[in-house]
Amino acid sequence: MSKNIRLEINKAVQFLAAGAVEALEPQVKAAQQALETGTCRGNDFLGWLHLPSSITAEHLADLKQTAQTLRENCDTIVVAGIGGSYLGARAVIEALGNSFEWLTNDGKNPVILFAGNNIGEDYLSELCAYLAGRNFGVINISKSGTTTETALAFRLLKKQCEEQRGKEMARKVIVAVTDARKGAARVTADNEGYKSFIIPDNVGGRFSVLTPVGLLPIACAGFDIEKLVLGAVDMENATASEVPMKENPAALYAAVRNALYLAGKKVEILANFQPKLHSMNEWWKQLYGESEGKDGKGIFPAAVDFTTDLHSMGQWIQDGERTIFETVVSVEEPKHTLLFPHDEDNLDGLNFLEGKRVDEVNKMAELGTQLAHVDGGVPNLRVVMPQLDEYYIGQLIYFFERACGISGLVLGVNPFDQPGVEAYKKNMFALLDKPGYEAESKAIRERLEK
Ligand code: PA5
Repeated sequence: MSKNIRLEINKAVQFLAAGAVEALEPQVKAAQQALETGTCRGNDFLGWLHLPSSITAEHLADLKQTAQTLRENCDTIVVAGIGGSYLGARAVIEALGNSFEWLTNDGKNPVILFAGNNIGEDYLSELCAYLAGRNFGVINISKSGTTTETALAFRLLKKQCEEQRGKEMARKVIVAVTDARKGAARVTADNEGYKSFIIPDNVGGRFSVLTPVGLLPIACAGFDIEKLVLGAVDMENATASEVPMKENPAALYAAVRNALYLAGKKVEILANFQPKLHSMNEWWKQLYGESEGKDGKGIFPAAVDFTTDLHSMGQWIQDGERTIFETVVSVEEPKHTLLFPHDEDNLDGLNFLEGKRVDEVNKMAELGTQLAHVDGGVPNLRVVMPQLDEYYIGQLIYFFERACGISGLVLGVNPFDQPGVEAYKKNMFALLDKPGYEAESKAIRERLEK
């Protein structure tokens, strides 16, 4: 593998004053240095920085062995987790998977389902009904081990799995990914004797896809986690602090998006032209939203799937308030080849496309959209991936993580905490009369009665 994913910035920089990106180089360098030396804000959460290069062959073998046990004993695997304990696995599995095969369960791979990421009673009821009679297993993922959404789903899944498959088999097909010592998920795993993996203390949820949080479900789905890690290692090297900004895609992306933010572009829209990247958008939104949106600051991360959303959000992007910029993740070569067929009647007038690849049309849609949006005043960045495989997805993940760390520090926030996500939990527990929340319950009821 010689190529790396590449970043194109020329159609964004044209919207900035001359030298605006270069002016941020000292801050980018300082951020890179602070990450490297562990002297930045949030420095107790820098375990992701050299995570790819520190993953051992033994660790990968352990993950693969556990995945194999689950694959041999399960036709369906439910991955329970939320936020950083969910989005990365889903993003990678969807990006690499066949768009339809999982629906039919062709017998080669287990069906992978996700739970514990919402509190929808219908969702959970329908999931339990779907699992009835199936040989399913569960991967219970929670760093704190106490997250309500995940714990609620796991309680239901554990009970159903034990009832359906028997206690002994349940012990074999339930795996925990959690903290080394604390939290209910850890205690349950130890009490029940589940196989478990540790989420390192110094890796926050949204930076954890290359820990067992992501790697175990990805391996269970049948994908090559060694290749994924290799891609991440190569990107770790390509974005290292000693690589000068103009050759360093993560440093450059961090600089350009901060320069755009300073120039009044408050919203970044991540776009793709491949439906398989939909959940990658979701992962990216969490990574940047939770890392940068604090202290009254931060680019709002939005996301669209093109060309679908050109028929819904396209109008706003082309013509709405000019406070946005766009970052397109572009895949150079699809996995399959599909040519436009000839049609005798040509009633749709599409015979001019006869013999062309579908991807050629998609690429012209992409280029046409870029030109239109730039004409409409939307700065445009492109992240170009040679293809959608494990290696380049590994690169993409690390590229976005590294850029996020740098970008948040340049913005002047702690990119590695998320104090804002506690507010809703506190209210929810007070409203549900959780023991220990008596004072909050009283206060919230008085507030609602006013
Ligand atoms: O990024 C984060 O820290 C969050 O999104 C968490 O991953 C999410 O809240 C789930 O937490 P936990 O893994 O403790 O269940």
